[in-house]
Amino acid sequence: MEGINFNQIGVSFKGSGSYVPKQILTNHKISDKVDTSDEWIKSRTGISQRRIAGLEENVTQMGYKAAMSAIQMAKWDVETIDLIVLATSTPNDLFGSAPAIQAKLCANNAVAFDLTAACSGFLFALITASQFLKGGSYKRAIVIGADQMSSYVDWNDRRSCILFGDGAGAIAIEATNEFDNLIGFNMRTDGQRGSFLNLPSKNKKDSIIDKIEYSSGGFSPVQMNGQEVYKFAVREVPLIIKDLFKKVNYNSDKVDWLLLHQANQRILDSVGDKLKFSKEKILSNLQNYGNTSAGTIPLMIDEAIRNNTIKQNDIIATSGFGAGLSWGAALIQWG
Ligand code: COA
Repeated sequence: MEGINFNQIGVSFKGSGSYVPKQILTNHKISDKVDTSDEWIKSRTGISQRRIAGLEENVTQMGYKAAMSAIQMAKWDVETIDLIVLATSTPNDLFGSAPAIQAKLCANNAVAFDLTAACSGFLFALITASQFLKGGSYKRAIVIGADQMSSYVDWNDRRSCILFGDGAGAIAIEATNEFDNLIGFNMRTDGQRGSFLNLPSKNKKDSIIDKIEYSSGGFSPVQMNGQEVYKFAVREVPLIIKDLFKKVNYNSDKVDWLLLHQANQRILDSVGDKLKFSKEKILSNLQNYGNTSAGTIPLMIDEAIRNNTIKQNDIIATSGFGAGLSWGAALIQWG
């Protein structure tokens, strides 16, 4: 970084990348473990299979692979990257995994840090990184969403374990002085409803010496009230997108793609209906990956870019939502 560039007014989208683990866990295989069926999972969620990180795979490795392919698409020299933001709730290191990704990338001039906002994490990280670019402090940023939910799911709880999978995606964004392809955004949180979905710390009471007690660290598996989370998503997501459209004077007709956090096909369909998006405009790949938390949005973007579904200059309305509770929306133009 060499001082602030006040001419930088916006961001452009330069590249995308993704990585999913090799192991595939189908609905059929899950039904060997818990009392469920392929038919039940497919009809209630749209999910057929998910990827599970093997012993050699983790958030740092998946995030690195996704970031590297975004950098290659952008045709950037790694030395020119100023900022790396990793959205994750499942880092390899609670002190942060982004610097480990920076090291693997050899992005020696970048500052790297983690950001935690569960399934809204990628969207919040994209908006955060964009502010550094628009403010003129940095020129090039990599935004990564990566999660390894398989490590924190209770594989005996059929109400939640069927939903999640592991994966990562990344995008490369650059500051511009001509236009802003992050057309607008909205972010919300409501800690009052936080108990609907969490991955809480599980502390064990112990003492260091007499009369000095402490809690040793650890985590309980994911706890979820599925029905409440469902109601939250189908109510709040359309509202926040409508509000964003109003702010930037847009409507569904002007948008090419609706790209929601991939949680449940029924949520995607319901939000799409409420916003009057035709089915063909709603991007979905959760059939293959389930809910990869912060990974879903960039994973979906990358897939759609690489198979030429999303094209240069397409307008995308995107929304992340989940634990916190947290939710947000952004309107972007690819390119
Ligand atoms: N297989 C078979 N039966 C199951 C099951 C499973 N995997 N999970 C729950 N059931 C049963 C329940 O025990 C219940 O049985 P009962 O009526 O005998 O008590 C019945 O199916 C209905 O349960 P319910 O919780 O009402 O199902 P649902 O239609 O709400 O679907 C979810 C459950 C989890 C799929 C749905 O609530 C959901 O997707 N919520 C949003 C979760 C989410 O997106 N979380 C992440 C947000 S980022």
